[in-house]
Amino acid sequence: MATYQSYSFQFLPTYESGKASKTDAEIIVIGLEDGKPSVSKNAFSTQIEKYMATKPAFQGKTGQVAVFPKGTWAPSQAVVLLGVGEKDSKTLENFRLAGSALASKLSAEKLSAPRFHFSNSAKGEDVHATLEGFLLTLYKFDKHRTTKAHVAIESFSIAAKDKDSDKEFAKVAKDALLEAECVFLARDWSNEPSNVGTPDFYAAECKKLAKELGASIRVLGAKEQAKEGMDLFMSVGQGSVREGKVIVMEYKPKGYDKSIALVGKGITFDSGGISLKPGLKMEEMKHDMSGAATLSAAFRLAVKRNAKNRVVLVVGFTENMPSATATQPGNIFKTRAGKTVEVINTDAEGRLILADLLDLAHDSKPDAIINAATLTGAVGIALGKHCCGVMTNDSALLGELRACGEALKERMWELPMFDEYLEDMKGDWSDLRNVANDSNGGTIRGGIFLREFVKKGMPWVHMDIANTAYMMGHVPYLPKKGASGLFVRAVARFVENYS
Ligand code: BES
Ligand code: ZN
Ligand code: ZN
Repeated sequence: MATYQSYSFQFLPTYESGKASKTDAEIIVIGLEDGKPSVSKNAFSTQIEKYMATKPAFQGKTGQVAVFPKGTWAPSQAVVLLGVGEKDSKTLENFRLAGSALASKLSAEKLSAPRFHFSNSAKGEDVHATLEGFLLTLYKFDKHRTTKAHVAIESFSIAAKDKDSDKEFAKVAKDALLEAECVFLARDWSNEPSNVGTPDFYAAECKKLAKELGASIRVLGAKEQAKEGMDLFMSVGQGSVREGKVIVMEYKPKGYDKSIALVGKGITFDSGGISLKPGLKMEEMKHDMSGAATLSAAFRLAVKRNAKNRVVLVVGFTENMPSATATQPGNIFKTRAGKTVEVINTDAEGRLILADLLDLAHDSKPDAIINAATLTGAVGIALGKHCCGVMTNDSALLGELRACGEALKERMWELPMFDEYLEDMKGDWSDLRNVANDSNGGTIRGGIFLREFVKKGMPWVHMDIANTAYMMGHVPYLPKKGASGLFVRAVARFVENYS
């Protein structure tokens, strides 16, 4: 079991064949072939055949689950049929959805230790996706509750098949577990209320992470930020009593191939500042550090999987608050890069901290920069909740990142960055202003502003995840409420594959 666990339940490492200690549910995975359930030979084949002859509602469709309680088919275990759907049209998402349905059903039935029997034709990636959906569904954030929700599932295992598949399945199970753990890390950070999830808190979490991963870390407090000339970053937190923190973490494997910088927005609470947000749903702005959380978790996942690329994580945590010391609309600040910015709207603060963080990221001489941020509410208006918004100055780079997401159903959609969008971001009294004169094309304006802080020739992608970072309950394996942890897996995969 990995050392990093801030989430509230544990898996016993019993997924390796034969080691399961206390199986209480035998899970028979059943797919469809030409519309008919295809059942591999297993210990329950006779019962299944008889059952299917009764033409039950269970037909092996994706996410269908049939439970035969303990004592019905087996004396001391429940037997559960799990449908994964049509073979020809099998996408990995089908397996995730099936795994998710199983997790919900087992939790409801208070079954705690399932053992999976995959079909004879199951490939490693099928098993991985099923477990992914299963594990991602089990997340709970109840550290602040005095009465804990009952968590049924404690361990899982995979029934022995043959030596080769046993080895492969054990490997993918471990990987699915690691992925879930990193997604949970991102969710945990994002869900943390801002009285606990302060800049100091995340700086301490980052230190723990660096220690665990053997990565080097630099924590910049106000003094160091000032020395770096990060006036614009500091301006965002100047209304808060809490000191903002900038973290630079580096993973540098021997003989590394490429270098990638990951730059994340970590606003621990976004009240809007003097341009105060309306009260309705303002509590959701504790999630405004999701970009930093996503990239920190992706960093962990990539490092844990021994990525061959060097990765530099640059995340900035600070609070956007109104007070006597807060930035006032019209204030002008110098950026680390030298340009000046007039803050017209103090609620467009993400781009302000990212401007300095992006500039700082160039110091590590990366081959590419990816940034992630809950930057604009407008991205949800443009795209809904089925993909995040992305912008780039390098379509090949974006292509690679998008391909990693596509396979995981972590989808991204590109928005244009025509130069004309920059025109109304030019300042009257400064080089740039932080918002345009009207509210149209808000997401693009955010991206265009950030592009001003990406140096010529530096391949870069900006991910606006404001619409997908939380409240993604329409996807069965994402939490009904709170953080989704989306894009942790895609970014990690990209970091590992980039060449
Ligand atoms: N953190 C918000 C963006 C956001 C909005 C995230 C809704 C999640 C849900 C960001 O700092 C912000 O307030 N952006 C402004 C920009 C505007 C002032 C140009 C917005 O979206 O309204
Ligand atoms: Zn804001
Ligand atoms: Zn914000």
